[in-house]
Amino acid sequence: MKILVTGGAGFIGSNFISYWLNKYPGDVIINLDSLTYAGNLDNLTEVEKNYGDGALPEQRRYWFVNGDIRNTLIVESLISKVDGVVHFAAESHVDRSITNPQEFLSTNILGTQTLLEAARKFKIKKFLHISTDEVYGSIETGYYSETAPLTPASPYAASKASADLLVRSYYETYKLPVIITRTTNNFGPYQHPEKFIPLFITNLMEGKKAPLYGYGLNRRDWIYVLDNCEALDLIFHEGRIGEVYNISTSSNEISNIEMSSRLARLLNQPPSLIEFVTDRPGHDFRYGVDSSKLRNELGWNHKYSLKEGLLKTIEWYKNNELWWRKIKEGDIYSSYYSGQYKK
Ligand SMILES: NC(=O)c1ccc[n+]([C@@H]2O[C@H](COP(=O)([O-])OP(=O)(O)OC[C@H]3O[C@@H](n4cnc5c(N)ncnc54)[C@H](O)[C@@H]3O)[C@@H](O)[C@H]2O)c1
Repeated sequence: MKILVTGGAGFIGSNFISYWLNKYPGDVIINLDSLTYAGNLDNLTEVEKNYGDGALPEQRRYWFVNGDIRNTLIVESLISKVDGVVHFAAESHVDRSITNPQEFLSTNILGTQTLLEAARKFKIKKFLHISTDEVYGSIETGYYSETAPLTPASPYAASKASADLLVRSYYETYKLPVIITRTTNNFGPYQHPEKFIPLFITNLMEGKKAPLYGYGLNRRDWIYVLDNCEALDLIFHEGRIGEVYNISTSSNEISNIEMSSRLARLLNQPPSLIEFVTDRPGHDFRYGVDSSKLRNELGWNHKYSLKEGLLKTIEWYKNNELWWRKIKEGDIYSSYYSGQYKK
């Protein structure tokens, strides 16, 4: 099978490509990514070596294309060559969506629509749209099922919710074989150090202050990225067309202050390095999604406990200092590493 992966130079996409090529020796992946600040070809060095440039021409199973999902010409030329699409590409950082919403609407909504239109034109066999639990908005207690209304709070979440609705409309109107997934917060190797867990790990490793929003009471349910990749794989192959699947562990829920203290402890750093900064506007208190549909229908279960996942992640950031230093030192948005809304 030939698959087009969009946003494969980002965090989840690069983990997914490596997972997939390793698991399915007969499959070929084309990775379309425009290499925004979040896209990083260093995430794919091993993939290139084993399946791309480094492989014998007749054994090559991976191609990278530097291009934008909003570019109809590129998108059509690639979609015409594949059987399925796994669509990760997005602007993904909530803080950046608050300071610059326009780019989020353009990529996340119009980019998705460009892909859907090409998928329709070339009669793609499966279109897996990667979405987020943030589209449901916050929930004090309990869990949202897939039929809950969408009440997004940030421009990021609103743009993802809009894309979800468009994807659904292409199923209803054109019978395009789509499936939508909504995952909780991922963590693991290759996550950009602007995001909570890698930001804390790398700042604490450097003995620097780590900025925590508000009083740190917000709660998140974390999933190790490889558990997410397995769920996506299962849903791609066995999920029902036209359906939405939530992906969550539920057992890995923890407040941000607890997570910060745990990371400081695991890195042997004093809790005094945790610095409370002004809260993010519209900061959702808690996300909770019910993944029993995925568990009962497809038999998925997560494998990594929060502790195992954190230990593996910390080990990876310790062993790959060059990878994150290059990003942190080269990024003009360095304010994101010390707390955007500093008190
Ligand atoms: N990280 C999470 O915790 C999480 C949780 C739930 C859902 N998601 C969703 O999963 C997907 C991947 O998330 P991530 O954390 O890997 O994101 P990321 O920011 O690490 O990667 C996004 C990738 O998309 C690429 N991209 C951005 N705009 C593009 C465009 N116009 N054309 C082509 N490529 C473009 C970037 O260069 C980057 O490589 C996103 O759709 C996100 O909404 C993420």
